Amino acid sequence: MKPSTQPTKKPDFADPPGPKASGKSKPKLSAADAADHYQDFDYSNFFSGAGEDPFCMLEPMDEWWSYAHPAGYYQFELPLQTAPGPVVNLHETLHNKDLRGLVNFASYNYLGLSYREEVIEAAVEATRKYGLGASGSPILSGTLDLHEQLATELARFKQKDCALLFPTGYSANVGTISGLMRPGDTVICDQFSHASIVDGIILSKAKCRFFRHNNVEDLEKKLTKAKGKKLVIVEGVYSMDGDLPPLPEIVEVCRRHGARTMIDEAHSTFVFGKNGRGVAEHFGLEDEIDIHFGTFSKSLGGIGGFVVGSFKLINYLKGFARSRVFSCALPPGVTGGLIKALEIAQAEPELRKKLWDNVDYAHKLLHQAGVDVGNSQSQVIPIMVRDDWRIFYMGTEMLNEGVYLNPIAYPAVGKHRSRFRMSVSAAHTAEQLERGTDAILRVLRRNGLCQ
Ligand SMILES: Cc1ncc(COP(=O)(O)O)c(C=O)c1O
Repeated sequence: MKPSTQPTKKPDFADPPGPKASGKSKPKLSAADAADHYQDFDYSNFFSGAGEDPFCMLEPMDEWWSYAHPAGYYQFELPLQTAPGPVVNLHETLHNKDLRGLVNFASYNYLGLSYREEVIEAAVEATRKYGLGASGSPILSGTLDLHEQLATELARFKQKDCALLFPTGYSANVGTISGLMRPGDTVICDQFSHASIVDGIILSKAKCRFFRHNNVEDLEKKLTKAKGKKLVIVEGVYSMDGDLPPLPEIVEVCRRHGARTMIDEAHSTFVFGKNGRGVAEHFGLEDEIDIHFGTFSKSLGGIGGFVVGSFKLINYLKGFARSRVFSCALPPGVTGGLIKALEIAQAEPELRKKLWDNVDYAHKLLHQAGVDVGNSQSQVIPIMVRDDWRIFYMGTEMLNEGVYLNPIAYPAVGKHRSRFRMSVSAAHTAEQLERGTDAILRVLRRNGLCQ
């Protein structure tokens, strides 16, 4: 039987006549005409199709792509040619040109630690001693004394019994949730939860219930109906919105319903709390939350994920978190660098102070110009555009104006919720913040999005 290649929603390929897959001859359309014809489509139209061939969506997507991409859709994977510091050079792939000296609001390097000289030295030293990789799963030959040292120091910093290291933050969420929850149980999480939380729930085969963003009443409704063992997961700082959960109310409602709690502090560790332990510390609720999650890829500027909690929890996860058991341990260089970055983040609280001065200044500059930043209360600042195609043109305009920001569109956020995500770092100077926000405001004004 001939496989069908119908996308979920069929592109109007009749007008303009017959676009062909990339590489073959195609009618010439201006970027604006191509956008007019193809802007009703995005990845969701090519998610699934009828038929027996797993490749059935490749050709329709390629046809769409052959217009959408040259029209400016997809502003991602622009190769950086420098460290992810406050100012970067990169290759702009759409017009195939190098751009220099852009103010960088796209990286998560909140404390500027990824390129600190001492961190690099520690990474080089560890690589010299242990080589490139750990060459094994942490439960087999992959555990180095460096991993033990990092886990011990992390647990001490977070004031918990133990820490468990994972190859990435993504795999830490997936492994922890699927390691703990079982079919028949219920995991309830915020509707804006990160994909790694959602994927962990899917893998666990527990029931997945979403509550409306930061809505405790809706959470309570979901808890009332939940069957089996219950786990509620929230984020410290929501990664696309920069707002915080109403943690005291959430903890209280979970306690009444006998649910365990987990907090993903990917964007809040080393940013919130008197000692930088995160939003749980900020609200004074560290002991009330059962599982504390973090990543090494944001404030510490490396890669890897971790979970901290009781000895019994970590010991159990060692056996059941499959994304850790069946994956190689963190590379020695990264681990050595992280030990140093963790030491600096604790020894230099002034970095956090500088970050917050910068966050306040960036919010002030945007607020004065009437920019819509949603409910952001942190270094993650969404600049709302709410137009899923225009965001990409504006992305190119931002680059041309001298600022690097990532456009965020479906599927990272819901449709018609596209925005630029601005990440502020302690490493930005006041002049860079002003130059970068001036560039943003020029683009927003041209597009009628601020005064
Ligand atoms: C809230 C949240 N959790 C988990 C992750 C995954 O972390 P990593 O990128 O370190 O794998 C991210 C990544 O951006 C995130 O934003």
